[in-house]
Amino acid sequence: MQRKIIIDTDPGQDDAVAMLLALASPDEFEILGIVAVAGNIGIEWTVKNACKIIELSGRTDVRCYAGCERPMRRVLVTAEHVHGKTGLGGTDLPEPTSRLGPQHGVDFIINRLLAEAPGTITLCTLGPLTDVAMALVKAPAIGPRIREIVMMGGAFSEGGNITPAAEFNIYVDPEAADIVLASGVPITMLPLDVTHRVLTTQARLDRIAGLGNRTGRTIGAMIDFSQRFDLEKYGWQGAPLHDPCVIAYLLRPDLFAGREINVSVETASPLTRGMTVADWWRVTDRPPNVNFIREADAGGFYDLLTERLARLP
Ligand code: RIB
Ligand code: CA
Repeated sequence: MQRKIIIDTDPGQDDAVAMLLALASPDEFEILGIVAVAGNIGIEWTVKNACKIIELSGRTDVRCYAGCERPMRRVLVTAEHVHGKTGLGGTDLPEPTSRLGPQHGVDFIINRLLAEAPGTITLCTLGPLTDVAMALVKAPAIGPRIREIVMMGGAFSEGGNITPAAEFNIYVDPEAADIVLASGVPITMLPLDVTHRVLTTQARLDRIAGLGNRTGRTIGAMIDFSQRFDLEKYGWQGAPLHDPCVIAYLLRPDLFAGREINVSVETASPLTRGMTVADWWRVTDRPPNVNFIREADAGGFYDLLTERLARLP
């Protein structure tokens, strides 16, 4: 039985890998659409990059929509220092030829949630939560109709990656994260705690780059570019591969482990803006609102990723 999903993303090399994993899995996913949001880089690039990745996959049955070009309240903070000036540093994919969907991405999310049967659509968020939060504010009736939000974002034991306190996706739009976390929608959160367990070691990257297809070669070049920042920063034998954890979790939840806890987000303090305060040890009476994932079977993750990417052109 296919799961209906909408992917909201700010490509970004790791977003691109996550998109390709989903696009390579038509038996498991009916991808209703992909919405590009401002985050790693400005909207004009995230839209173009999302279209390029869809066309790379050959899945031109999947449409891209342009979402929000700035956070709800904050000035956009981007990450060109990681992803390069195009957001897909390391590759030079052809200009996309596909046409964007006619609606704004937020309206696309609202309209599909109102059109489809309640509880049948999963929102997979790979960037700041601006589009999902705006949809919840513009049309509160969609909240109970969302099956689940599976999001990459936040951190507990790993601290932050854009500030000492905050993970990038949450930092960029903490107000949006606050709205989503308070929405009552079932949420599975894949934070840095788990994405730091699935490192792109050279052997894993070589296996993907050596698949013999355009997808593998492109991913090899993309991650080779984007991982250099984290290799330098952390000094590990590989870099975290954040966003594909969202799609891998939906394909193989048995590869991951976590528990239902309360996660709240700091929106007021300049020092700790965007910090996710994860009550892992349940020391407060704040009710659990997310399935917070902290463990992953890295070998199983890369076996799944490699096997699926081999299916693409
Ligand atoms: O902190 C990691 C997240 O920020 C990932 O989604 C990456 O693509 C960047 O958006
Ligand atoms: Ca992302």
